Amino acid sequence: MKKISRRQALKMAALAGGSIVLPVGLQYRGYAQRANDPVQPFTLGFRTPPVLSPVRSDATTDYYQITMQTAQVGILPGQTTEIWGYNGIFPGPTIKQRKNRQSVVRFINNIAIKQRSNRLSMWFPKTLSVNTSVHVHGMPSQPQYDGYARDFVSTGYYKDYVYPNTNAATLWYHDHAHGRTSQNIYMGLAGMYIVQDDDELNLPLPKGDYDVPLIIHDKQFASDNSLIFDDQAHVRLMGDVITVNGVPWPRMEVANRKYRFRVLNASISRSYRLALSTGEDLIVIGTDGGLMSAPVNTKDMRIATGERYELIIDFSKYPIGTQIVLQNLGLPNNDNFTHTDKIMRFDVVRAESDDSFVPSTLRNIEFIPESSAVRTRDFTIEQRSADQLWVINNNGWDRNRVDANPQLEDVEIWTFNDTANISFHPMHLHLIDGRILDRNGQPPFPYERGLKDVFYVGENERVRVIGKFRPHTGRYMFHCHNIVHEDHDMMSQFEVGQGGVDPMSAPAKPLPAPPL
Ligand code: C2O
Ligand code: CU
Ligand code: CU
Repeated sequence: MKKISRRQALKMAALAGGSIVLPVGLQYRGYAQRANDPVQPFTLGFRTPPVLSPVRSDATTDYYQITMQTAQVGILPGQTTEIWGYNGIFPGPTIKQRKNRQSVVRFINNIAIKQRSNRLSMWFPKTLSVNTSVHVHGMPSQPQYDGYARDFVSTGYYKDYVYPNTNAATLWYHDHAHGRTSQNIYMGLAGMYIVQDDDELNLPLPKGDYDVPLIIHDKQFASDNSLIFDDQAHVRLMGDVITVNGVPWPRMEVANRKYRFRVLNASISRSYRLALSTGEDLIVIGTDGGLMSAPVNTKDMRIATGERYELIIDFSKYPIGTQIVLQNLGLPNNDNFTHTDKIMRFDVVRAESDDSFVPSTLRNIEFIPESSAVRTRDFTIEQRSADQLWVINNNGWDRNRVDANPQLEDVEIWTFNDTANISFHPMHLHLIDGRILDRNGQPPFPYERGLKDVFYVGENERVRVIGKFRPHTGRYMFHCHNIVHEDHDMMSQFEVGQGGVDPMSAPAKPLPAPPL
C-alpha cells in the first residue's frame, strides 16, 4: 500500500466531510475532534518554569523531591487540559545546581489515570498504573541512576536518584520508560536541569533574569481541550500548537539589551529551523555539553528533539516597539500547520543599560583528536520494511543485547548512516559528550562545533561522531531522540568495560517513603 501522508489523509477526510474510514494505521485517534486553531499566536504572556528549592542541604549534597502527578492545567486560554507533570506542571520545575555539588532527587510516582475506554469502567471504575523512569539527559550518571528503560518507577513507588553534576551545561530531565516514553513526555514529564560553574558565572554574559530557558514542545488538542496523542502509526508526532515553556506561542516583553536563551527542543518528533524575523544573527554560545570555545553567528540553525543550544539575542539594535518573531523556517519530514512556522515573539518594550557582552573566547575545550580513536563502529539507521520498525543495524531494542563494548577511556568513532529520505534521526548517546567529525564528508555546521550528546542525522546523511567512553563502566542506552522512533524500536545499548553496576540494581521502592 502506498503510504499517504497525514496531511493527505486530513484532506481526504475533509473532502468526505470527516466521515471516511481511513485505512488501518491512519485512523488517528481523536482526529476528527481536533480543535481548529485553538489559540492565536502571540496573545499569551511568556513565563519561565519555577526553580526547585531543595528539601534540605548538607556539605556535599542538595536533596530534592518531585512528585509525578496528573493535573488540570491551563494551556489554552480559559480552558483546562489534563497533563502528567513533575509536580503537576509542564515543563517541570527547573533544577539548578552548582558543578560538583551532588543532587539527590526523590521522584515519587503518583500518576493514577482513570480507565476510560472500557464500557465496564462505568460500573467498575478502575485506575491504571503508569510505568515511568527518570533520565537526566546530559548527566554522566551511574547506570542505576540513568533512567534505564526497564528500571520502572511505577505508580505508588519512589526512587532516589543520585546525580554528580560534573559538567556545567543545560541538561534536561525526562521520562524514559520502555515503549511509552513518547506518551509520558507528551503528557508532560520533562523539565530543565541547569548546572553552572564559576568559570561560566564569571564571564560577562547576560545573567539572572537575562538568562532564560526556552523549552519548545508541540502539542495537539481535541475540541474538548484534551491532548491528542497521534504518532501516525509510530512514525512521528506533530502538534499544530507550538508551546514555549508550556505556553502556546508566547509573547515576551524584553528590554533593549542582550539576553541569553537556553533553548531546548523537548518535542516528541518535531525539528525546527530557528531564525529571527528581522534577519539578524543568532549568536550561538553553547551546545548540549555546555559553552562553546568561541561564539558562532548564524542566520538560522536546526535543532532536533533532545538538542540544546544556548543563544544570545541582542535586542539593543531595535527601537522600542519593535516586534521580533522567533521563526521556524521548517525542515523536511515535519508536518506543517497554519502556525508551525513561528515559535514565539519578543516585544522590545523598555530601555535598559547593559554591561554584558559576548567574549571572543568562552572557554578552553580540549577536543579529542581523530587520531586518538582506537576503533570505528558503523550503525545503519532505517525503517525496516518487513515490520515498519525503526532499527539500528537491523535490530530493535533488546535489554539482553549489547551492541558495543568500548573499554573505559577508549576513544571511538561512531558512524550513523541514514540511507533514505523518509526521516531525520537525532541520535543520542547516554553517558558521554562527543563531537561531530563530519557529515557526508563535510565539516559540521559552525554552530555544532561544540560538545554534544545528540547528533542530527538528517535525510541521507552519514554523520561521524567521536567520543571518549568515561567516567563510568556499565551499560548505557543509545537511541534516536525522535521519541516515537525510540519507542519503536530505534534504541540499543553499549557497555563500557566489564563489571559495571547493573542498571537494575537500585529498584524503586513502594510508598510511603521515609524522610529524605
Ligand atoms: Cu533525552 Cu535517552 O534521552
Ligand atoms: Cu540522555
Ligand atoms: Cu529516528
